[in-house]
Amino acid sequence: MKPIQVGLLGIGTVGSGTFKVLQRNQEEIKRRAGRGIEITMVADLDTARAKAVVGDGVKVVDDARAVIANPDIDIVIELIGGYGIAKQLVLEAIAAGKHVVTANKALLAVHGTEIFAAAHAKGVMVAFEAAVAGGIPIIKALREGLTANSIQWIAGIINGTTNFILSEMRDKGLDFDTVLKEAQRLGYAEADPTFDIEGVDAAHKVTIMSAIAFGIPVQFDRAHVEGITKLAAQDIKYAEQLGYRIKLLGVTKRKANGIELRVHPSLVPSKRLLANVEGAMNAVVVNGDAVGTTLYYGKGAGSEPTASAVIADLVDIARLHTADAAHRVPHLAFHPDAMSDLKV
Ligand code: HSE
Repeated sequence: MKPIQVGLLGIGTVGSGTFKVLQRNQEEIKRRAGRGIEITMVADLDTARAKAVVGDGVKVVDDARAVIANPDIDIVIELIGGYGIAKQLVLEAIAAGKHVVTANKALLAVHGTEIFAAAHAKGVMVAFEAAVAGGIPIIKALREGLTANSIQWIAGIINGTTNFILSEMRDKGLDFDTVLKEAQRLGYAEADPTFDIEGVDAAHKVTIMSAIAFGIPVQFDRAHVEGITKLAAQDIKYAEQLGYRIKLLGVTKRKANGIELRVHPSLVPSKRLLANVEGAMNAVVVNGDAVGTTLYYGKGAGSEPTASAVIADLVDIARLHTADAAHRVPHLAFHPDAMSDLKV
C-alpha cells in the first residue's frame, strides 16, 4: 500500500521535531500503522528554514493553500498556532476533504465546536493529542482508557513554561524574566509568552480536557483564568517554609450545579506528587468513579515530545486507511505483519 501523504503547515520547533522523528523511526511507525507515513510537502513563510530541515526530497512552498490544494495530500498538520489564519486554513483543509492533525489548543478551545462540526459534516478527522500536555497521551487516556468512567475531576500542571519558571525561581533563586527567556530559548514558551504566564495556555488545555471528560462543548470563555505574574519570589519562599509549593494548576470538576473550570496558582503540600513535578514537565491527575485516581506524567512541551503526540495522531488516521485489520484495530498488534524481526 502506498504511503499516506502528509502536508505540514509551519515547520518551527514542533514541525521540525515531527519531521525528524518520522524519519528516524519510519520502519517501526510503518509496521504499526500498516503503511508508510511521509511528509511530502511543507509550507512555511521562511522557506530557507524549512529547506534546511527537510532537505531536497520534500516540496517546500511559502503558501499554505498550495498544500491544501494538492490532491495527493491525505492529512494536513497545522502547526502555525493562534486563532487567525490557522482557523481559516484548518476549515479550508476540512472542506477539501483532508484529515487535520493540530497542536493548536488555542484554536480548539475557542473555535472547537465550529471546527469539529465542519469535520463531522465532511467525514474527516481532526486529531489533537499534541494540543494538551505535549507528549503525554492524555487525550487518548480520557477518550479510550477511561471511557467506562464517570469522570469526577481533573487537576494538572499543564503549562511547561510556568512550571519551569516556578521551579527555577525556587531552586536557583533566578528572577522571573531571566527564566522566561530561557524557557523561550528551549522552545517551551508560546510565540506570545503572555499566554503562558497569564494562565491562558493552561486554560485552553483544561477547557479541551473538560469537554472530552464531561461531554460538553468547549467553553473557554467560562473559565476562571489567573497566571503567575503576580507572584513574587517571596511568595515561593514563604510557601516552601510552610511546607507547600506553588504550582499553576488547571482544574475541572463535576459539581452538583455544573462543571467547574479554573486555572490559578495553588499551594500544593510538598509531599504530594504534583508538588514534585519540576521544570517543563507536566502531570495530569484524573479521577473516575470506577478507576479512582490516575496520574499521567511526562514532557509537556518541546520539539520531540510534542512531535511524539502529533505522530500518534498520524498513525491513528493512517490505520483507518489501511486495508489490513491487524493495523486498523490496535489490539491486533500481535498480528505477524505488525511485528519486527528483533530477537529476544
Ligand atoms: N507553551 C506551552 C507550555 C507549550 O509551556 O506548556 C506546550 O503546549
